[in-house]
Amino acid sequence: MLEKIENIKSEANLESGLIKDEKTLEEFRLKYLSRNGLLNTLFEEFKSVDRESKGKVGKSLNELKISLQKIYDEQKEKTVSGKSPDNESPDITLPGVKFNKGTKHLISQAIDEITEIFQRIGFQVYEGFEIEDEYHNFDALNTPDYHPSRDMQDTFYLHSEGKDKNYLLRTHTSPAQIRVMEKTKPPVRVIVPGKVYRNEAVSSRSLAFFHQIEGLYVDRKVSFSDLKGTLDYFAKEFFGENLKTRLRPSFFPFTEPSAEMDVECYLCSAKGCRICKYTGWLEIGGCGMVNPDVFKMVGYDPDEYTGFAFGMGIERTLMPKYGIPDIRLFYENDIRFLKQF
Ligand code: DAH
Repeated sequence: MLEKIENIKSEANLESGLIKDEKTLEEFRLKYLSRNGLLNTLFEEFKSVDRESKGKVGKSLNELKISLQKIYDEQKEKTVSGKSPDNESPDITLPGVKFNKGTKHLISQAIDEITEIFQRIGFQVYEGFEIEDEYHNFDALNTPDYHPSRDMQDTFYLHSEGKDKNYLLRTHTSPAQIRVMEKTKPPVRVIVPGKVYRNEAVSSRSLAFFHQIEGLYVDRKVSFSDLKGTLDYFAKEFFGENLKTRLRPSFFPFTEPSAEMDVECYLCSAKGCRICKYTGWLEIGGCGMVNPDVFKMVGYDPDEYTGFAFGMGIERTLMPKYGIPDIRLFYENDIRFLKQF
């Protein structure tokens, strides 16, 4: 038995040199130290050793136990912490530890950039409410009762306590115009970024929520050319090139006259490409001169003040800029998508 113990001891010493990772360490433990390992088998055999030899064999067996445990502990320290007890200096050939630095979401970056562009020309930032009442979302914006956008198919209603207290998820950032004008006297220059909700079928072009940026400028003698000048300034700053902008006649109940805002396609320099559908223009939102009826609702005198307003879709503006083919990509939080921005 003593000879057997000695053999196992030298075998274990030899094998300790082969331990190089957690797998080989575990193999060592299973072979020698586990319940069915060699050490326990020896202790079983020890029971039948005759009385005279018990002292000697027992001593040697205990020494084996201690030395096996020592080998295991040392090797574990080495493999798990990656440190070698006899060589404390770091192994510079090991691959580095990757540090994943988080960044702002693409949409937040765009909101920061756009608001900063407008802040430079004196606009203030206001956030508005995502839960609005029907009055601010529709009535005060001159939207008639029969307007289809009020339909349940288009708007998410939350709960109703009569006409004045009909709560909903705002369908656009425009009610923030009303909130600001109710609280401030002209001149007003605000920009309102935020999330809006619409009861739409989900597809690559539409989701039940997206982001808009609203703008409102009210003062004496604000004219349509101020609107055009502001849009030109924005397009130059945001798209970074000397691109033309154009306004196309349109209709919104809260502006009169109303227009759609287009920017020359910066992807093909207005030559015509797949993204701009070969028109040379990209649509970025709606705008117009604030309807005098809206001013009356908030107690502004329409004979004294005029103003312009606009609302841009953020996803819609970013998709062509970065060639993003599907609006759902913004919200899937796939790190492979997000880390590109
Ligand atoms: N609220 C409109 C929409 O969601 C966009 C819009 C158009 C905003 C004209 C405006 C505006 O402020 O003047 O489609």
